Amino acid sequence: MTKVSMTVNGRQVSGDVEDRTLLVHFIRDRLGLTGTHVGCDTSQCGACVVHMDGKAIKSCSTLAVQAAGSSITTIEGLAKDGELHPVQAAFKANHGLQCGFCTPGMVMAAVDMINRHGGNLDEATVRENLEGNICRCTGYHNIVKAILAAAAEMSAGRQAAE
Ligand code: FES
Ligand code: FES
Repeated sequence: MTKVSMTVNGRQVSGDVEDRTLLVHFIRDRLGLTGTHVGCDTSQCGACVVHMDGKAIKSCSTLAVQAAGSSITTIEGLAKDGELHPVQAAFKANHGLQCGFCTPGMVMAAVDMINRHGGNLDEATVRENLEGNICRCTGYHNIVKAILAAAAEMSAGRQAAE
């Protein structure tokens, strides 16, 4: 067993893990943050996406020990003061989900995508960047619409603040 410490959603946490413990299991089983999902065992579905030091990663293919000392954000850490994050609000407004199983990973991937591309996102780029996230329900169209709407809103917000 190895003791690991990291920041999760702004809170310092630590725990003993086996060398083989996956980050997603540490997050779900130890911390009880079950918004991060496991949808496959082949690293293909993206339901497990969280941010590590601000970048989207698949927590099913990251060891807990690799995350030691890092700052992790999960879907539970996105809303602030009871207000949905703009990407969460855009998924709701644009019907970007049906069963919701893929949604936490989609939203976390989308936030990273928007941080990287800002208001320059276009439909083709969104679709290409969603390659690592699988949805069994929506046909993706409304997810893409939601991400483009959130990117436009977030970049307008940034310009207004400048
Ligand atoms: S659980 Fe499917 S990619 Fe991580
Ligand atoms: S909304 Fe059901 S898997 Fe995406």
